[in-house]
Amino acid sequence: MKKQISRRQALKTLGLTLGAAALGLKGFTQVADNIFEYELNLNEVYKPISNPLNRPITAITCGAGSRGNVYGGYAVSFPDQIDIIGVAEPVPVRNERYAKKHTIPEENRFNTWEDVFKRPKFADVIIITMPDHLHYEPCMKAMEMGYDVLLEKPMAQTAQQCRDILAMTRKTGRIVAVCHVLRYSPYFIKMKKLIDEGAIGELISMQHIEPIEHIHMSHSYVRGNWHDSKATTPIILAKSCHDLDILRWMTGKKSKSIVAMGGLKWFRKENAPEDSTGRCMDGCAIEAACPYSAMKIYYRERGWLYVFDLPEEKEKQGDAILEYLRTTNYGRCVYKMENDQPDHYITSIQFDDQITASFSMEAHTSYSGRRTRIMGSMGDMVGDMDDLTVTDFRTGKSITLIPKAEDVESYKNSGHGGGDWFLMRDFVMAVANQDPKYLTSTIDQSIESHLMGFAAEESRKSNRIVPISM
Ligand SMILES: NC(=O)c1ccc[n+]([C@@H]2O[C@H](COP(=O)([O-])OP(=O)(O)OC[C@H]3O[C@@H](n4cnc5c(N)ncnc54)[C@H](O)[C@@H]3O)[C@@H](O)[C@H]2O)c1
Repeated sequence: MKKQISRRQALKTLGLTLGAAALGLKGFTQVADNIFEYELNLNEVYKPISNPLNRPITAITCGAGSRGNVYGGYAVSFPDQIDIIGVAEPVPVRNERYAKKHTIPEENRFNTWEDVFKRPKFADVIIITMPDHLHYEPCMKAMEMGYDVLLEKPMAQTAQQCRDILAMTRKTGRIVAVCHVLRYSPYFIKMKKLIDEGAIGELISMQHIEPIEHIHMSHSYVRGNWHDSKATTPIILAKSCHDLDILRWMTGKKSKSIVAMGGLKWFRKENAPEDSTGRCMDGCAIEAACPYSAMKIYYRERGWLYVFDLPEEKEKQGDAILEYLRTTNYGRCVYKMENDQPDHYITSIQFDDQITASFSMEAHTSYSGRRTRIMGSMGDMVGDMDDLTVTDFRTGKSITLIPKAEDVESYKNSGHGGGDWFLMRDFVMAVANQDPKYLTSTIDQSIESHLMGFAAEESRKSNRIVPISM
């Protein structure tokens, strides 16, 4: 967001001309020619905090890794809303650090999620932030025992498991929020609101791209936790179920069919450079020039280190990183892994009411984020997750909208354009009020994009258009 703030300040010194009223849009502050800030009145867009419980909701986190700590961070910042009173985590140092951060008593610390459910229910919610293959069973068990659930995406590993979870929410009446965090980011909320207010007339079609960024691809889907689609989930779900979900949400229509193509072109054994070694640190001849050198990414540049449990003392971290590069997949050559996730993936989707959308997931980019173009009967929208430019065909005028700095700044540490923590805010209220309407990503709303993902994978593998059926 730094980019926006400095640019915004610079723009404020320029002259002001066109009004947002030209597009019939209200509630914006003009900061320069055709540039408008929008403010997300938290209490309007996200319902006011109301907690009839008169106490924080209580939670048990299953999986104190990266995501468990993102949601844990919210509890630390807003202790009046949520108190994490239990943790299940098999890695001792993670369990220890999480327990310390949240002052979790010894008797509420568990090695694995199964242990949590051996005790009678002792909190309001279960937070499921374990690997993809550990979502379905704990989620079903949690509901059976009367817990509400915050469930990381993807919901489950098969379409049938997703349907089972939906059926179980209906049977038990429990609230399950899927972590489709983009739905909670100010940028996408604004996009949705503009579409619903008719800013571009009737929505006709969408084009959406998720540029993964090449190092991110190598880190997560070549070397990292999601390199094996069978042990986790196919990349269209593991990485892009957010994006299919955004398309479904923006169009507001049911998806009817999908076609997909793509595959793994680059990160393969036959592309390994001559004289490259199994590990980057083992005297690889091209290490210094390789964009994927583990020594460069993790050791020299100290990037992507959140996956390592490093000592707190900075002077000890270098040796610890080298040990990880010697002993884990993160030190291996990207061309010699046992990876199978596609590095480029395109899909086209037919929605009801003749609306179409195309989506591309691209690993080989220098940039990340999302880029979206929305074509309407009376205008169009182009956005990059920072700025959103709306053009009205009737007037020929364009304006660019940028989220007001404070809206994003206050929650920005959570990532996904602030969505991670805005989701937590709504989840707390849904649980405190026992009302899923506070959420836009309940199972009912999230299941379809998962089914789209499974259908896309079927299409990619079978070379045919696949109908999407609930
Ligand atoms: N919503 C998003 O945008 C988003 C982003 C990244 C990841 N995710 C999803 O979140 C989930 C977690 O990803 P992560 O990056 O935090 O992974 P992670 O590896 O950092 O964390 C998972 C944790 O679960 C623990 N764990 C493993 N087995 C367990 C068990 N039996 N009982 C309790 N804990 C166990 C692991 O030790 C680890 O600490 C994944 O499903 C991933 O797809 C979602």
